[in-house]
Amino acid sequence: MNNLRQRLSMDKDWLFHLGEVDVPVNKSHNSIYGRAKAGGAIGPAGMEWNDANWETVQLPHDWSYQQPFDRENGVPNFGFKPRGIGWYRKKFRLPAEDLGKQLMLEFDGIATEASIYLNGSLLERNYSAYTSFTVDISDRAYYGDRPNVLAIRVDATEAEGWWYEGAGIYRHVWLTTKMPLHIAERGVWVRPEKINDTHWQTHIETVVGNELEYDVNYTLTTYIQNAKNDVVKKARTESKCAAGSKITVVQQLIVTNPDIWDINTPHLYQVHSVLTIEGQLYDTQVTSYGYRTIRICPDQGFFLNEKPLKLKGTCNHQDHAGVGVALPDGLQEYRIRRLKDMGSNAYRAAHHNPTPELLDICDRLGMLVMDENRNFETSGEGLRQLENMVTRDRNHPCVVFYSLFNEEPHQGTPIGRRMVKRMMRTVKRLDPTRPVLGALNGGVMEDEGTADIMEITGFNYMHAGYDKFRAKHPAQPIIGSETVSAFSTRGNYANDSIKQVFDSYDQEKAPWGATVREAWQAVATRDFVMGTFVWTGFDYRGEPTPYEWPSINTHFGIMDTCGFPKDAYYLYQAYWLDEPILHMLPHWNWQGRDGQPIKVMTHTNCEEVSLYVNGQFISREHVDLYKQLEWEVPYEPGIVRMEGYNNGQLVKVTEIATTGETVALRLELQKPYLHGDGKDAIAVNVYAIDAQQRFVPTDTRFVAFTLSGSGKILGVGNGDPNCHEADAAQSRSLFAGCCQLIVQSLHGTEPIVLRAEAEGLAPMTWVIQVKEASEPPHIASVRETYVNDWYVTQEPYSERPDPLMIMDSTDMNTWEKVDVSYGALNMLKGIAGYVVFRSQLRLSDQAKSSSNTLRFNAIQGDVEVYADMELLLVASLDEPASLEIPLREVNLKGKNAVTLSVLVHMTEQMSKPGISSSVCLLT
Ligand code: GAL
Repeated sequence: MNNLRQRLSMDKDWLFHLGEVDVPVNKSHNSIYGRAKAGGAIGPAGMEWNDANWETVQLPHDWSYQQPFDRENGVPNFGFKPRGIGWYRKKFRLPAEDLGKQLMLEFDGIATEASIYLNGSLLERNYSAYTSFTVDISDRAYYGDRPNVLAIRVDATEAEGWWYEGAGIYRHVWLTTKMPLHIAERGVWVRPEKINDTHWQTHIETVVGNELEYDVNYTLTTYIQNAKNDVVKKARTESKCAAGSKITVVQQLIVTNPDIWDINTPHLYQVHSVLTIEGQLYDTQVTSYGYRTIRICPDQGFFLNEKPLKLKGTCNHQDHAGVGVALPDGLQEYRIRRLKDMGSNAYRAAHHNPTPELLDICDRLGMLVMDENRNFETSGEGLRQLENMVTRDRNHPCVVFYSLFNEEPHQGTPIGRRMVKRMMRTVKRLDPTRPVLGALNGGVMEDEGTADIMEITGFNYMHAGYDKFRAKHPAQPIIGSETVSAFSTRGNYANDSIKQVFDSYDQEKAPWGATVREAWQAVATRDFVMGTFVWTGFDYRGEPTPYEWPSINTHFGIMDTCGFPKDAYYLYQAYWLDEPILHMLPHWNWQGRDGQPIKVMTHTNCEEVSLYVNGQFISREHVDLYKQLEWEVPYEPGIVRMEGYNNGQLVKVTEIATTGETVALRLELQKPYLHGDGKDAIAVNVYAIDAQQRFVPTDTRFVAFTLSGSGKILGVGNGDPNCHEADAAQSRSLFAGCCQLIVQSLHGTEPIVLRAEAEGLAPMTWVIQVKEASEPPHIASVRETYVNDWYVTQEPYSERPDPLMIMDSTDMNTWEKVDVSYGALNMLKGIAGYVVFRSQLRLSDQAKSSSNTLRFNAIQGDVEVYADMELLLVASLDEPASLEIPLREVNLKGKNAVTLSVLVHMTEQMSKPGISSSVCLLT
C-alpha cells in the first residue's frame, strides 16, 4: 500500500437544502424491510435522492445568519434569525488503493444535532454544536469507481445556549486516511514536565491501533523537533500489537533548555511519531506542543513559567460580522490579533469549546485559553462531551484552564458538588496538568456547593464578594471568570433608549455588571484574584440586553461585531499595555452644537494630562487610573489636543480634529495579500476619510462593492447593533464611519480588484495581491447519478421469463438485493439460463429535461433493457463490455422515476454474466 496518512479537506462543494425534506411514505413490506438493513436509509439520507436542485455551498457554512431577520417568530437571544433543519449531501470517490486503510471523517463542529449517513447507513449522531467528533467510514465506504454519498441531517431547532449559535456545518470537515497499522485518533498526548531549571521530562503517550488481521511487531520512533526543525531528541520503542487491538506506548524524553512557550515568545515544538514494521513505514503524525509551566496560588494568583501574570482576558462567542459562526481561519486570527493588540493575554471560550483552529492560532500567537465545557451534566453524553474536550485540546500549550460550567442552578448545592466531583475525576484521568474551575454567579458561600472543591473558584460579576469569599476560604484561588458587562455603542456619545444606543463614557452597565474602571480596579488591586475575563471582547449576535428589536446584537463588546474598537478598547490598552496610552473621546464633529458643552474624557495610563482646545490651554490634571479625567468643553470646531506626562516628561500627544466632508474611502487590510489557495480570508476595513485623509466618524453612507480576480466577498458588516441590512451581501452602509468586508481567495493568482461606489463619492478601486498557493489537499465532489439499488431474480430460469414480471412487495426472497458494482455475481457463473435485474432510476429535473445516456460499465449475455414497459435495446455481448443506451426524452417525460428491467440470457462459459459493474446516468 502506498500513500501513507493523508488529511484531506472535505469543505468543498456540498449540496445543501434548507428545511426538512418530505419523504413519501412507502408502507409496503419490502420498503419497511429494506429500511431496517445496513445501507437502507431512504430519502435524502439514502443513496438515491434527487438533490440536483440543491444549492452548492462551501464549508464552513452557517445558514442561519443568511436568512432575513424575523421579528415575528425570531428570538432576541438568537439575533432574530431562524434556525431549523437543513440537509447536506456530498458525493465523492475514493481511490481503489484506499481499500484496507483506516478512513476517518473528522467534524470540527456542526450546529446543532447532526446525523451522519454514509451510503445509506446512519454512522453517527452528535448532540452538541461545540464538540468535534470523528466517524470511521472504512467499512462502509466504496472504493474505486463508485461514488460515496455522505448525507448529513442537521437539526438546529433546539438551542444549547442563549446567544447566536448559527446553524449547519459551520466548522471544517476532514477525511484522514491511514494504514491499517496506525496511530489512533487523538492518539498522541505530549505532556512536558519541568524537572529542574534546565531539564524537562517530555512524557509522550502514543496509541497504536492494529486493524490488520494478524499480530505485528512494530517500531515506534518518536522525534522531538524544535522550531528550526532540528531533532533535539529521539526515542525508539519496539513492541507487539495484537490483531484488531490498540496499545498505548509510553516514552519519556528529557529535553534540556528548551525554548519556552510564553505569551510574548510562543515557541512551539513538534513530536513526530513514526510507525514502522521491519523498516517499512506505516504511519507518521506530527503533534505540536510547547514547554511552559503554570501554577496557581491562592495569594498571588496565576504564574506562567514561574512569573506572576495577571490574566487580562475576554470572554467571547464565535460569530463575526458577515459570516455568522462560519469563520474562515484567517478571520479567527484577525480576532485574536485584535485582542492581543489591546493587551489581552487570555481568552475564555464562552461557554463552549472553541474551534480546533482557534487553539492553533492561540498557540502560535501566545494567547492563553480557558477551555469551557458546554453542557454541565454527568450523564453518559455529558461526560462524553467533557472527555471530548480534554482529549482534543490537551496538547495545546495555550490551554491553561478547563471550565466545567457557567452559572449553573446547582452551583451552590450538594447535587452540583457531586456532579463537579465526578466531572473533575473525568478530567483529571485524562489530563492532571490543568486546573479545573467553574464560573459561578452565586452559591459561592454555600458549604455543600461547588465553590470550594474546584481548583479555582470562578466569580461571574459579584466582585464585592471577592474579599468575603477569601476570608472564608483563604486557601482557595479565585478568578474573575466573567466581569464588566458594560454597554457602549461604537462612535456614539449619548444614551438614547429610542434609538437603542449607549454612550461610550464607560458609565452604562448591566444591573449585575460594572464599568470597565470599577471591574478592573477590583481585580488589579487584589493580588489574590488571578485575573479578569471581560464580558465580552467582541459584540456578538443575539442577546441584545437590555433591548430587544430592533437591536439584533449585544452592546457588551469592547469591539463591535467587525472588531472595530469602541472607546473602551483604549481604556483596556491603558490598563493592560506597558507603553503610554493616551486616547481621547469623543470625536470632534459636533456641527450645529457650537457653544454647547461636550464631555471630553481620557482613556490613559499617563500620570498627568493637559487639555488644549484650538491652542488654548484648559488645564493640566493628575490622572486617577480608575477614574480617568473628564472636562466639559464648549464646542467650537477645530482641534482638541491632549498631552500626557509621566514623571513630568511629555510622553504622548493626541489630537482630534473637526473633519471636513467625506471625499473618499480608505481601505485597511489585515495583511497585504491573500494566498490563492481558495481558503485564505481577510477582514477588509473601510473608513470614510476627508480631504486631509482624516477619519470621518459620523459618515453613514451606503457603499456598493464589486470584486474581480481570484477572490470573492464572503460577507459584509458595520458593527451597528440595530442594522438590519444583510450580511451575506456585497454592499453595506457605513456605521460611524466604517464598514467591513470579509474577502476570501479563490484558487488562483489574479490580483483582486475591489471597486466601491458610494453616493456622492467618485468610484474607487483598490488592488489586493493574491500570492500563488496550492489548494490544500481535498476531496472533490462528483455529480454523476448512479443507479444503486439493484435486485436480481435469485434462481435462474431455464425458460425466458417475463422481464416485466411484477415484483411483489411482500416477497423478499424471489428477488435478492445485490450490489452490482463489486463485479459479477458468483451465483450466475457456470449456469445457462435467464435472470432479470431490476432497479429504479430516479430522475432529477435536469435529467427529465435533457437527453441522457444510461451507461452499464460492464454487462455480459444476451440482454434486453426496458424502461418501464418500453424496450430500449437488445444486445448480444459474448464478453463483458460497457453498454450505452441513449434515453429518448419520450421515455422520461413527466416521470420522477422509471423502472429498469434487464433480462440477461447467459451461458455456462461466460466469465462475468449479467451486470458486473456500476450503472450510471450521464446527463
Ligand atoms: C452572564 C452570562 C453570559 C451573558 C452575560 C451578559 O450572566 O454568563 O453568557 O449572558 O451574563 O451580561
